Amino acid sequence: MSGKLVLAYSGGLDTSVAIKWLLQEYGLDVVALTVDVGNERDFSAIRQKAIGVGAVKALVVDAKELFVNHFIFPALQADAVYEGQYPLATALSRPLMAKLLVDTAQEEGASAVAHGCTGKGNDQVRFEVSINALSPGLKIIAPARDWGMNREQTISYAQQNGILVPVTAASPYSIDENLWGKSIECGVLEDPWVEPSEEVFTWTRSPGEASDEPAYVEIGFDKGIPVTIDRQETDGVSLIRRLNELAGSHGVGRIDHVENRLVGIKSREIYEAPAATVLLQAHQALQALTLSKEQVRFKQKVAIEYADLIYNGLWFTSLHQDLAAYVRSSQRCVTGTVRLKLFKGNCSVVGRKSPFSLYDYGLATYDKGDAFDQGASPGFIHIWGLPVRTQAQVQGTGSLGEEFKE
Ligand code: ARG
Repeated sequence: MSGKLVLAYSGGLDTSVAIKWLLQEYGLDVVALTVDVGNERDFSAIRQKAIGVGAVKALVVDAKELFVNHFIFPALQADAVYEGQYPLATALSRPLMAKLLVDTAQEEGASAVAHGCTGKGNDQVRFEVSINALSPGLKIIAPARDWGMNREQTISYAQQNGILVPVTAASPYSIDENLWGKSIECGVLEDPWVEPSEEVFTWTRSPGEASDEPAYVEIGFDKGIPVTIDRQETDGVSLIRRLNELAGSHGVGRIDHVENRLVGIKSREIYEAPAATVLLQAHQALQALTLSKEQVRFKQKVAIEYADLIYNGLWFTSLHQDLAAYVRSSQRCVTGTVRLKLFKGNCSVVGRKSPFSLYDYGLATYDKGDAFDQGASPGFIHIWGLPVRTQAQVQGTGSLGEEFKE
């Protein structure tokens, strides 16, 4: 094969080696595409590095707004959290990167694309399922899955080929970062019994060392989208950044998860997701105020499905479109403000208000002004308890059971 290929380039060891390897194995002209999803890197250094290693072109695309508005916020509206723990930062970024790879391949007239994922993870699946959905004929190469080198061999290949091995490659951890969170794997973390040492965390202060003074923050939502922070209108990217900093400094957002990968492996992952932790909690608190009991229950089921499909690489599917339409519709009245307290690793909701609040003081209060018709309760209980009385009489379900017998 000859011609042009677009590589999703992070600037790290694997994708740098991949540029050289693709050149040597396939004789391809490599266009390096780096997607800025808020990982705050030195993009001009990354671009230079790609060219230095042998890329014919190095592009950097600022995709932060796209990422926030079309991936992060819809996932927030859905309350999408994988297995109750992982807010899906990496998983959400992959379909966006796939889309940008495909678009760039078209613009550049490239016949193939490549990514730096290994053959053991979820990311290869997310990239390739998405790329195939968007451009069925496009060839995909996964150098790190094909080259058969382990980490040491990759490092020595890099050294032999004059590729600077970044200091981060010397670190035993595998890291991925974007606005919605950071993931850390490998090294001692592979033993699920071992507590991660402090050096693992770079976004969050140790809860024990966080300020003795709690911080309060108010998040204003419009139809399930956070639009203000402390009453100030703020664009999504800045709002998330500010929350990552603030909540992180109070030790909020550390997650230790033994998760089920799509490829069948259980894997121990550490995440730091301060903004995601705060926003997901705030959003749910506002929904508790503005949605009915049945809406909340149903939405919880949708949230599990929604999280699974993001995790499993099924972004570009009809099921996703259908669930997203339901989620959007469910947010009609999710407008209002939530007040949270950040203190030594904890984030708690301490206040919420909304023009669409279903909370009725007159109905809830025990003070004077009580508007609840207590006289109607006996009739309600009579009918509610009817099947219980019947079953207890006929089937003896009213006895306490064996363990209560003498
Ligand atoms: N386990 C997470 C996921 O599957 C994080 C993966 C991080 N990816 C990486 N290449 N380091 O989404």
